[in-house]
Amino acid sequence: MKERIVITDVGPRDGLQNQPKILSIEQRVELIRAIAAAGVPQIEVGSFVSPRAVPAMAGTDRVFAALDANVTYKTPSIALIPNLKGYELARDAGAKAVTMVLYASDGMAQKNAAMSMTDAEDITMKILRLAKQDEIEVIATIAVAFACPFDGPSDPLLVQRIASKFIDAGADQLVLADTIGSSDPQQVRVLTEALVKSHGATQLGCHFHDTRAMGLANVYAAVESGIRRFDSSIAGLGGCPFAPGATGNVATDDVAMMLQQMGFETGIDLGRLMEASDLAETLTGTAPGGRCKPWLQGHLVKQAG
Ligand code: COA
Ligand code: ZN
Repeated sequence: MKERIVITDVGPRDGLQNQPKILSIEQRVELIRAIAAAGVPQIEVGSFVSPRAVPAMAGTDRVFAALDANVTYKTPSIALIPNLKGYELARDAGAKAVTMVLYASDGMAQKNAAMSMTDAEDITMKILRLAKQDEIEVIATIAVAFACPFDGPSDPLLVQRIASKFIDAGADQLVLADTIGSSDPQQVRVLTEALVKSHGATQLGCHFHDTRAMGLANVYAAVESGIRRFDSSIAGLGGCPFAPGATGNVATDDVAMMLQQMGFETGIDLGRLMEASDLAETLTGTAPGGRCKPWLQGHLVKQAG
C-alpha cells in the first residue's frame, strides 16, 4: 500500500491575503470548492484577523457559512488566527480547526500581531485549553522557523523548544513555517530530523515559500526526514504582507505531482487540480502557477487521447 502524505492548501488564506486584487466572498468560495473538488484533503480557507491589517480576509465568517451550506463540500476547513479574538471569531463561525501562529523571533511577533513571542506562547496555551472544551483542533505554526526578515537567522534550539512545548501541551499538529523562504534543504533536514527523533512524525508538518526556488527541494528534504504533512498553495499563490520579500508558497500543483510521481498517495486528482490552478490564475491575475502545468496538461491530453 502507498504511504500517505497530507497536503493542506493554504492558497485561499496565505495566497489571497497578499494579492493586490481583493476577491469577493463568492470568488473565494469558488476557489476553495475547486481545490476541494481536486481531492486536497485539508484547506486553510481564511483567517480571522483585523480587516484593517488584512483587508483581503474580511468576511471569513461568510466563507465558512457558504461552505457549511454546501452539501457537497466535505473537506476539513482550517482558519488561521493570530490571537484570542481570532479564536473566538473562528469558533463562532463554526471552524473545527484553527492554525494559531507562534514565532521564533520577537521582530516578527511584533510586526505580525503586535505582541511578543512569549505573549503568543501564553495565548496559544489558553487557546489549547479552550479548544479542548470546544472540540476544535489546534495546529500550532511556528512562523519564521528558519529566519526572520527583521531579526535574522532563527535559533534551531529555540524552535525545538517551542515545538516540544506545544506538542507536549496537546497541539494536534505542529508546523514549521519558512515564512520568507530562507531555508535550504540541509537546514530543513537537520531541524526536521531532530524533531522527528524527539516526537515522531505524525503531528509534524512543514510550510515552505518558494522565494528562492528551494521550495520543492525543502519539501524533499523534509520527506526524507519522515515528515508527511505539507502546506502549499494552489498555483503558488502567496506571500506575507508583514514579511518583506516573502513570495508565494511552494505550489500545490508541483508538490502533489512530485509526491505522486515518487509513489506517495495524496488523494489528489492532478487533472482537477489543474482546473483549480487555472481558476486561481484567472481570479487573481497574478498567481504564478506551478511549474508542472504545461507538462501535466500535455501529458493528461495524451492519456485522454
Ligand atoms: N480579528 C478581527 N479583528 C481583530 C482581531 C482578530 N483576530 N484582533 C483584534 N481585532 C480588532 C480589535 O477588536 C480592534 O478593533 P477596533 O479598532 O474596531 O476596536 C482592532 O482589531 C485593533 O485591535 P488591537 O488589539 O489594538 O490590535 P492591533 O491593531 O495591535 O493589531 C492584530 C493586532 C493581531 C489584530 C493585527 O495585527 C492582525 O490582525 N494581524 C494579523 C496579521 C496576519 O494575518 N498575518 C498573516 C498571517 S501569519
Ligand atoms: Zn506562509
